[in-house]
Amino acid sequence: MAEGPVGFVDSGIGGLPYLAFTRRMLPGERYVYAADRENFPYGEKTPKEITDAVTALTARLVEREHPRLVVVACNTASVVSLAELRARFPVPFVGVVPAVKPAASLSRRKSVGVLATQRTVEGEYLRDLIERHAGGCRVESFPAGDLVSFVEREMHRCGPEERAERVRREARGFRDAGLDTVVLACTHFLHLEVEFRAELGAGVEIVDSRGGVARQIARLLAEGRGGSGGQGGAGRPAGRDTLYVTGSLPVEDRYAFFAESFGLALGGIL
Ligand code: DGL
Repeated sequence: MAEGPVGFVDSGIGGLPYLAFTRRMLPGERYVYAADRENFPYGEKTPKEITDAVTALTARLVEREHPRLVVVACNTASVVSLAELRARFPVPFVGVVPAVKPAASLSRRKSVGVLATQRTVEGEYLRDLIERHAGGCRVESFPAGDLVSFVEREMHRCGPEERAERVRREARGFRDAGLDTVVLACTHFLHLEVEFRAELGAGVEIVDSRGGVARQIARLLAEGRGGSGGQGGAGRPAGRDTLYVTGSLPVEDRYAFFAESFGLALGGIL
């Protein structure tokens, strides 16, 4: 595996909490992030449109930054397009898929909720995951495209009460359904993790894929560089961690806000 940064791709800013989690675990790496602002949101597109968009996005990131691996930090793109991406690019990929398996084993009353985009909820991949790993559970899926748009476009200018109120509306469905475990199966929702925890309370487990994804990245890097696992070894590749966006100028101020909040330089248009 060549030297180079660890790349993240998503339809927008959803994957940033995954980058932050991975960076805490593997601080010796350089990170680059591509937000497909031009094609946001993925969750309401057809599978072909999603695959075309994420393939073009990955191609640009690979050309610009030569990442040593790419994290598809988007459940929607991972469940729809991961196989195609792996076939197209000679770079290792790590996908982010709904954490149904850990949720099923954590759930005491065997009642699990999955909060995701329309595309993920309707897809075969999720059905198959549930069949294979949550056979003994009641699993209810909730499409929440509005919440994805809220996170991408509005959340940055909302106060704590507005954020809490937005989460409260989704959480009502979980409570009414009597679920004790909830999977945040769209990366955007991790930006509201604190609000979900406060709203659902200690009796409801909230599950995501950050730990599994970071461990998988560490494993791949360790295999590629003789066991350093990104903890030092060959040293951190030069350059700042960077957030790129697609689309045209001017770039909305919120991307500079998100870049700064996550300790990234805004790299402009990819
Ligand atoms: N962040 C993406 C996910 O994890 C999807 C958001 C979108 O609809 O674009 O599913």
